[in-house]
Amino acid sequence: MTLLVDDVTLTYPDGDGRLTALDAVSLEVPAGSLTAIVGPSGSGKSSLLAVAATLVTPDSGRVVVAGRDTSLLGPAEKSALRRERIGIVFQQPNLLASLTAAEQLQVMAHVSGRPSRQLRRRALELLDAVGLADKAGKRPHELSGGQRQRVNIARALMNEPAVLLVDEPTSALDHERGAAVLDLLVTLTRERATATVLVTHDRAHLDRMDRTATMADGRLTAGAPAAAGPPSASVPAA
Ligand SMILES: Nc1ncnc2c1ncn2[C@@H]1O[C@H](COP(=O)(O)OP(=O)(O)OP(=O)(O)O)[C@@H](O)[C@H]1O
Ligand SMILES: [Mg+2]
Repeated sequence: MTLLVDDVTLTYPDGDGRLTALDAVSLEVPAGSLTAIVGPSGSGKSSLLAVAATLVTPDSGRVVVAGRDTSLLGPAEKSALRRERIGIVFQQPNLLASLTAAEQLQVMAHVSGRPSRQLRRRALELLDAVGLADKAGKRPHELSGGQRQRVNIARALMNEPAVLLVDEPTSALDHERGAAVLDLLVTLTRERATATVLVTHDRAHLDRMDRTATMADGRLTAGAPAAAGPPSASVPAA
C-alpha cells in the first residue's frame, strides 16, 4: 500500500462556523494502480488531493505515504517527503515561460543535489516517455495545451515519486487530447508503479481506471455516480 488516507476530516473556517470539506474520508491506493475521483464542483476533490499531498494538515485522521505516517512528521520532514516521494500535477500546467521543456523538469529536481548531467538524462528519458522527445528544446508558448500538460506530468515524475496526485489534467483539453493524457497516466502508473489518484470531470474514461470513487459534500463513496455509464471496478469498503 503506497498511499493510505485514513478517516480524514478537514474543516475550513466559514463565517461563525466551520465548513466540512472532508468528512471521515478513507482511501487506499496500491502501487501501480490508478483511482479516479469524480464529483461535483465544491465537493472536496482538490481538498482530498491537498491532504494526500501533505500540503494541508487535516483536523483528524492520518495520511500514510510509502509507509510513513505523515501525522508524525514536522514541516521540514513533510516537505522532504513531498520532494522525494510525491508527484503533484496541478490543473494549470504553471510552466515557467523562459525555460525549455527539458529545463522545466531539471529545475524541479535541481534541489535534490543530483549531478546535472544525470538530471538532464532523466529529463530527456521522461519527455520521451510522454511522447515529447522531439520537443525537449521548446518553450511553453511553442507547445500545444496537451503538450504542456504532458510536460507537467513528466515534471511530476522527475523524482520517481511513489504517489502521483493529478487534479483535472484534461479539463483544458478537447476529448481526443484528454483521452491521450489519460492513456498516458494509465501507462505511467503501471510502468513506474506509482499509487495514482486522478481527479476528473471526464466520465468517458472511467472504465480504464482501476477504481473509481465519488465525492459528494465531503464524503467519499466507492464506485462511479449512477449516470456514469458502464460500471467500473469499485473501491473496497473504505
Ligand atoms: N482554503 C479554503 N478556505 C475555505 N474554504 C475552502 C478552501 N478551499 C476550499 N474550500 C471549500 O471547501 C469545499 C471543497 O473545495 P474543493 O476545492 O476541495 O472542491 P472540488 O471538489 O475540488 O471542486 P472543483 O471541482 O470546483 O475543483 C468548497 O466548499 C470550497 O469552497
Ligand atoms: Mg478542485
